[in-house]
Amino acid sequence: MMSDKIGGGETLMKPTKADEVVEKLMLGLIPDEEVKMLIKDQLQRRTDWIYSHSFEQRFAQLHNIVEFLRGKSAVTETKDYNGDEHDIPIGFAKLTLGRALKFSWSYFEDKSSTLDDAEKAMLDLYCERAQIKDGHRILDLGCGYGALAIHIASKYPYCHVIGITDTTSQKKFIEEQCKNQNLENVEVILGDITKFELNKEFDRVMVLDVLENDVSIVNHWVLNGKHISRTSEEWLKKLDDNADEAKAIAKDILGSEYEAVKWINQWRTSYLHAIELGEFNNGEEWVLAQYLFKKKY
Ligand SMILES: C[S@@+](CC[C@H](N)C(=O)[O-])C[C@H]1O[C@@H](n2cnc3c(N)ncnc32)[C@H](O)[C@@H]1O
Repeated sequence: MMSDKIGGGETLMKPTKADEVVEKLMLGLIPDEEVKMLIKDQLQRRTDWIYSHSFEQRFAQLHNIVEFLRGKSAVTETKDYNGDEHDIPIGFAKLTLGRALKFSWSYFEDKSSTLDDAEKAMLDLYCERAQIKDGHRILDLGCGYGALAIHIASKYPYCHVIGITDTTSQKKFIEEQCKNQNLENVEVILGDITKFELNKEFDRVMVLDVLENDVSIVNHWVLNGKHISRTSEEWLKKLDDNADEAKAIAKDILGSEYEAVKWINQWRTSYLHAIELGEFNNGEEWVLAQYLFKKKY
């Protein structure tokens, strides 16, 4: 926003061209194809900038990023457990995610895979690569709606899974699901994983997007970015198919049609971004990485 002085010393913020574009985007007034072109253009600029540097310069930049991240917590702290700042209404999640409500990328084994198939395929892949055995004690950090915890608990009846989430609604939802499916081997703890101390030992700690310092890498795998793209395409398709219901949920929470429309379009834009990001350079630029760690002794 640009500031503009008006009479009486008051300052009015005059919308810039960029503000106007964002407002149009949030109101869904820019066609998807145009949004995708803008995103692709930004991604191209970003990669051009990266590759315009020598390998040595890129390595130095990477080193700086690693040093910067070392001083940061890998996940954000949660201020209080009633605020539920990561909370996404379960009704909304059901309208856009797959059947398992996996709120992370899925694995599309072939062109005919549905989102539900791909969720399951990725969950199986985690189990295979983490070498989970029936009877293991498993900790699932940031367990979301329990996709992985429930998958493991039903696939391996002698496993005991503890999921940690920072939102009450997710905890309640997982507990209800377990009750309906007669699963007694899942426990959900409400807590902040940046501060949590649990006096228990586990055979496997399953975690997305969090790196621990006291581990070493045993193995790693890379999945083509197209799995990001396909997952996001499916989420967008579902959201659009359920647009009226999604808007009603958003309106209920946010209080006005205007805010609801903006909220839905924020989701749509982040999905469009992920579609382009994953698709970029034939899925070879932004990829999915999976790591198998072991404790350093
Ligand atoms: C992107 S979702 C992934 C959920 C789940 N792992 C999955 O794949 O479906 C991230 C999850 O981490 C939880 N989370 C984020 N920060 C957290 C924190 N500091 N403590 C506990 N949970 C946290 C969020 O509530 C959310 O459930």
